[in-house]
Amino acid sequence: MLNRRQKNTYNEQGFLVLEGLFSGPQIDPLRRAALEIVDHFDIDRHRSVFRTDDRDEGRDDYFFDSAENVHCFLEDGALGESGELAQPRRLAINKIGHALHDRIPEFTAFCRQPLIGEILRDLGLVAPQLWQTMYIFKQPSIGGEVRWHQDATYLITRPAAVTGLWVAVEDATRDNGCLWMQPGEHRSPLREIYRVDRDSRKGTLTELDRSPWAVEKAVAVEAPAGSLVLFHDHMPHYSSANRSTRSRHAFTMHVADSRARWSEENWLQRPNLGVFELR
Ligand code: FE2
Repeated sequence: MLNRRQKNTYNEQGFLVLEGLFSGPQIDPLRRAALEIVDHFDIDRHRSVFRTDDRDEGRDDYFFDSAENVHCFLEDGALGESGELAQPRRLAINKIGHALHDRIPEFTAFCRQPLIGEILRDLGLVAPQLWQTMYIFKQPSIGGEVRWHQDATYLITRPAAVTGLWVAVEDATRDNGCLWMQPGEHRSPLREIYRVDRDSRKGTLTELDRSPWAVEKAVAVEAPAGSLVLFHDHMPHYSSANRSTRSRHAFTMHVADSRARWSEENWLQRPNLGVFELR
């Protein structure tokens, strides 16, 4: 699937954009399925907000249980002063996670297409295993910023062996909060690690390295709908708040190689669902 130049770009820059890889008919079912999940979500029972400016201290049982389920998380700005929903529900959700690939047929079919396994094997994975999926809305006007981070902070394998796949379901631009990356900085040290104590279900974000983010190198990864962005688990990335009038839907997958060991300190564990292999 990938030519030598594309593989070199991935290895040198730490990320690769495949513009317009997927057609409208391939990604439209994802969007429709995501909105249907939102339409049936019991907002009054699960008022769990997803934000990244609290050093992950706000993670609750609803979050941890999403490892094997399909849970919706609210956008911080969707709630009014007394905690009431101040937005129509389709415009209130920050993201859905994290077992869409196991539980929702449209997502299962998308992830199972042979193209995805082929691309991952081209990048050197021997037996790719899909650990988590998310549908991210980046809502107009209120879509929150996602601070600079590396995904290996939250998805720990030994050795580090996670690949991120980010699919633009809608056009992603600077205005509506596209990804930003730092070419070459996938070789920089892991700055933080998020470990969870399984018994107490308490997560702790710990600093590992004080190297500053190379924000001067940051580039906007603008991507039209249907594009796939592949990135390394040490690649620092960020997305700004969305202050535009257009949403920026994306679907993400995180894949590890079977040769790496999945840490027991990861917040995400799949004791019941088991391994999801991408052949
Ligand atoms: Fe990330």
